[in-house]
Amino acid sequence: MSYAQHYAQHIERLLALYTDALLATGNFEAVLIHSGSARYHYADDQTSPFRAYGHFSHWLPASRPEQVLLILPGQTPVYFQVVPTDFWYEQTAHLDDWVAAQWQVQPLERSAAIAEALQGIPGVEIPPLARIAFLGENTHFATAMGLPPECHNPSALLQWLDFQRAVKSDYEVACIRAANRQALLGHTAARHAFEAGGSEYAIHMAYLQACHILDEETPYTNIVALDEKAAILHYQHKRRQSGERSQVLLIDAGCKVNGYCSDITRTFTRPHTAPLFGDLVEAMTALQQSLIRKVRPGIPYPDIHVACHMGITNILLQSGICRGSAEALLEHKVSTLFMPHGVGHLLGIQVHDVGGRMKNARGETQAPPPEYPSLRTTRSTAIGQVFTIEPGLYFIPVLLDPERDGPRAKYIDWDLVDTLTPLGGIRIEDNVLVTAGGVENLTRVSI
Ligand code: GLY
Ligand code: MN
Ligand code: MN
Repeated sequence: MSYAQHYAQHIERLLALYTDALLATGNFEAVLIHSGSARYHYADDQTSPFRAYGHFSHWLPASRPEQVLLILPGQTPVYFQVVPTDFWYEQTAHLDDWVAAQWQVQPLERSAAIAEALQGIPGVEIPPLARIAFLGENTHFATAMGLPPECHNPSALLQWLDFQRAVKSDYEVACIRAANRQALLGHTAARHAFEAGGSEYAIHMAYLQACHILDEETPYTNIVALDEKAAILHYQHKRRQSGERSQVLLIDAGCKVNGYCSDITRTFTRPHTAPLFGDLVEAMTALQQSLIRKVRPGIPYPDIHVACHMGITNILLQSGICRGSAEALLEHKVSTLFMPHGVGHLLGIQVHDVGGRMKNARGETQAPPPEYPSLRTTRSTAIGQVFTIEPGLYFIPVLLDPERDGPRAKYIDWDLVDTLTPLGGIRIEDNVLVTAGGVENLTRVSI
């Protein structure tokens, strides 16, 4: 099936979802979604790269400011395509035919003209303004349109929509699949640049070039970490010095296709890397694949996290980094010193997609287990969900050093920790889709 067919079904599904949401939450008969406004740096005339609001991107792959969608049950959705006349910036807006075919496009020069344009859409009857919900950050815009504050981002409606975002349509899965394929080209180029002794900067540029993207088009700041920097979970810098002698590359980098993200991590070694570290990478890869094999519909996501900590505990014992019994290590949460983050998160329009801790569409939430407060996903798995599985094992001085004379010190071989700390750590991350039969790995594909 092509994007065209997928997208038509996606829009049909979204219309049905929004219709249900409006009925279930009451109060509103239509929804107006604003993509957002440019954000200026303080006391500056420069803006940060624009990123459209998630619920806008759910409908339309057009990441531009000041765009507005009108959703009315039973009606072709309306896109107020705002294209200012301007000679300072390029303003041309392009919609692929397969996108435009699903919309009633109303071209406008200024978003301020939308209030008036609302009343003149052929064949569309607009409810009173107090019955239109506004979704978006710029509520000044909504006020200027005449929408009262009760209409701004109503929480019951937003909770309902956030909850539904976890389950993807075939169109969304196709986009995430494509975003994975694109990122894999970058990961291959990054590995080659690392093997050739490239700096973090050179590896990053090799990634961008192979994916054919600009830095600002990545879904999140690429993490390109050589050696000890791999222990910094969201390491954001790119050192320029040669990586000739580097032993380890941890690269966490994705791509975006039609607004949908991939989020992939690989840890690579070189022939001169300490053999124990290479063995750890192999063991972590096997653990990650075994965790993915556990995925099927209807299991609590925290169960995968608990299984991950059991697996890491075994790896710590088998490698000699820790000593004692698995039971004692688990009881004293020793593995959390080596893996302080959650085993994964929902993935979609946002790299950490919304609704991970929601219990239901009514907005009830489920806190993570107290011993694993960083876990972003606490809901149960369901067919159509896409999330990451990303176990890690790191040597993080700020977590380990305070333990050296604490009650858990006896479980840890500190000489081995000191040997491995310059190598940073390991993370292996894939993106998976929950299917009726279990799981599909969207990342482990041949390109
Ligand atoms: N790239 C950020 C993460 O893996 O969550
Ligand atoms: Mn991730
Ligand atoms: Mn990642």
